[in-house]
Amino acid sequence: MDIRRLADFAAKVNIAFPTAEEYGGLSGFYDWGIRGSQLKKNVKDVWWRYFVERKDFVVGLDGSIVTHPRVWEASGHVEEFHDPITRCRSCGRTFRADHLIEDLTGKSVEGASLEEINKILSDLRCPACGGELEPATYFNLMFETRVGPYGGITSYLRPETAQLIFADFPRLYIGNRKRIPFAVAQMGKAYRNEISPRNFLFRLREFEQMEIEFFFDPEDDACPFYDDVKDYEVLTLTVEDQENGRDGEVRRVSEVVGDYPGREWMVYWVVESLRFLELVGVDMGRVRIRQQLPDERAHYSMDTWDVEFRFDDLGWKEIEGVAHRSDYDLSRHAKYSGNDKYRIKREDGTEFVPWVIEPSFGVERVILSILYSSYREDEKRVWLSFKPWVAPVQVAVFPLVSKDGLPEKATKIRDLLRRFFRVEYDEKGSIGKRYRRQDEVGTPYAVTVDYQTLEDNTVTVRERDSMAQERVGVDDLVDYLLERMSW
Ligand code: GAP
Repeated sequence: MDIRRLADFAAKVNIAFPTAEEYGGLSGFYDWGIRGSQLKKNVKDVWWRYFVERKDFVVGLDGSIVTHPRVWEASGHVEEFHDPITRCRSCGRTFRADHLIEDLTGKSVEGASLEEINKILSDLRCPACGGELEPATYFNLMFETRVGPYGGITSYLRPETAQLIFADFPRLYIGNRKRIPFAVAQMGKAYRNEISPRNFLFRLREFEQMEIEFFFDPEDDACPFYDDVKDYEVLTLTVEDQENGRDGEVRRVSEVVGDYPGREWMVYWVVESLRFLELVGVDMGRVRIRQQLPDERAHYSMDTWDVEFRFDDLGWKEIEGVAHRSDYDLSRHAKYSGNDKYRIKREDGTEFVPWVIEPSFGVERVILSILYSSYREDEKRVWLSFKPWVAPVQVAVFPLVSKDGLPEKATKIRDLLRRFFRVEYDEKGSIGKRYRRQDEVGTPYAVTVDYQTLEDNTVTVRERDSMAQERVGVDDLVDYLLERMSW
């Protein structure tokens, strides 16, 4: 499967399509149709239920998108959040310099200095016109905006959801009456003025994140759930593997995560992340965890493990990062805000700044991996094998024909099922065509009302993947479906 075909299919079935196509689109921005917006909502709902509602020590936040400029000075984004950019002296096209080098030479320059990048660039030419390339400079990825009239003040659209959790830490800690360790979760839009957005939903300028900031005491860092995660195995690629040119191997997460304060929690968050991805339908046969090389780590990170997905055409790509951020964030906000509310008093009277572990998912990248994992085709049909809890429509209801009282009976059943599930009613076209239309958008069950229904109050339930059909009594239908749709 290649990513372009998937993008065309997603546009056709109303999942996502380039924004303002009639005006030529705007690179890095997508609009979501009814199937896609529902799918996105469902994935976010499962994440919220899995990580917030089902864990006593996690609370939530919905922070603002336009944010105080000092927040981004404190976080290091004003100074550090940039990528190298170059321009062709002849045709004026701009390129992200490290990606251009990778595309033209096949070699990664992750973590290379501007000087090293420029040395390589001087031997390369513009891939569009063959012109000479300007030396690369750094380009800050934050979108600036002005707040207020008469010029107002310069502010930024948040480039990540995380930072508000750090900035608001004093209120979140006291307001939620929590003790360390505890975590704050937030999901929502983030904006990055990417130099070269590409690969459908993979690199966008407007996207969503689902992030958790977990706060702990480095001197009291045992994880009470460690037994439940310590034996979890997955394909792993350590720094050492990469330095020795090895492919990595299946190992326990607990074997590869480093020996530092918060180690057990780091294992916990990596494993919980992998379990979540499996739950929403990501093919775990295409997943590995890769430790970032020291040179590629973000300025705040002490250690980062990326969860990567293998695309046939793009290779291994990051869909989530689990970063160990030590006390970087809260120490910076303590310094920049000039107050000591970011420090916590232990029972013995000593004080400390909490350390942080951060599992950070991009919603669109999770969805891209789900689409990639779910897409199926054979000679008869194309279908999306979505898990029932993320499927935009969970049950389709059809009257076999639109006469003889079948639509009336079918709409009654539709209304009953709507109290529990996302239901779509359809009476247009042959029954075969109606099944195909629902298969294409991943609806796991279709309920057909026929003449027998009027006699014995049973319906046919068809399962999407196997296409197997079963006769079920209307009185048992809700239980029958609930059993198959709960996680
Ligand atoms: N708070 C940490 C942070 O933002 P990041 O690695 O820059 O870390 C986290 O981003 C996740 O956000 C990534 O793993 C990816 O899934 C998603 N993401 C980042 N940039 C993106 C982009 N331009 N388009 C789509 N998703 C993106």
